Amino acid sequence: MFEIEAERPEHGPAIEALLDLSFGPGRYAKTAQRLREGNRPVPELCYVAFSGEGAERHMVGSLSFWPVTIGGVPGLMLGPLAVEPKLRGKGCGIKLMEKGLADAKKLGYRLVILVGDAPYYARVGFGPVPPGRLTMPGPVDPARLLYRELDIGAFARAKGPITKPQEVAQAAS
Ligand SMILES: CC(C)(COP(=O)(O)OP(=O)(O)OC[C@H]1O[C@@H](n2cnc3c(N)ncnc32)[C@H](O)[C@@H]1OP(=O)(O)O)[C@@H](O)C(=O)NCCC(=O)NCCS
Repeated sequence: MFEIEAERPEHGPAIEALLDLSFGPGRYAKTAQRLREGNRPVPELCYVAFSGEGAERHMVGSLSFWPVTIGGVPGLMLGPLAVEPKLRGKGCGIKLMEKGLADAKKLGYRLVILVGDAPYYARVGFGPVPPGRLTMPGPVDPARLLYRELDIGAFARAKGPITKPQEVAQAAS
């Protein structure tokens, strides 16, 4: 029912429209956005989902992953993830994430974090970050800060702030 494709530049306007529709104007005020500003998603890990046949075929979902440093461990932040309202609840979101997480593992990424609803993301293996272990660059409900290891043991060394990768490089120089 859904076909996942690599995001291409021509998908940009439809993705922006879907994200505006899904998250509203508060989209840019979220703490996770601070890790995206001045950062770039991993090009190989940006996806769109299509549904429909022939002239009906259109983009119905999108997902991207962003490079971040997770308490000293290089990793990824998952999201934003959005699916067209009419097609929600049919497996598109899970399919996008399963594809992205499998590709991220193949690319050698070991750890992924996100901010979202724990019961949903538990379906693809995310669990809550223990309180106080990691900090985001702004306020976040601790129950919504989730992680998933792509490599067993990757979380063990992660402790401290979650930052953009270049912030760590700048602080060290
Ligand atoms: C969240 C979202 C991406 C899910 O996409 P989707 O394609 O509808 O999800 P799926 O079809 O893969 O999974 C649906 C299942 O997850 C459940 N689910 C969906 N959102 C959930 C949530 N926030 N919390 C708990 N369960 C949730 C559904 O009830 C459904 O359960 P079922 O299989 O038992 O019927 C979509 O609802 C969306 O775009 N929402 C608005 C944007 C958003 O909130 N993005 C996530 C930011 S944290």
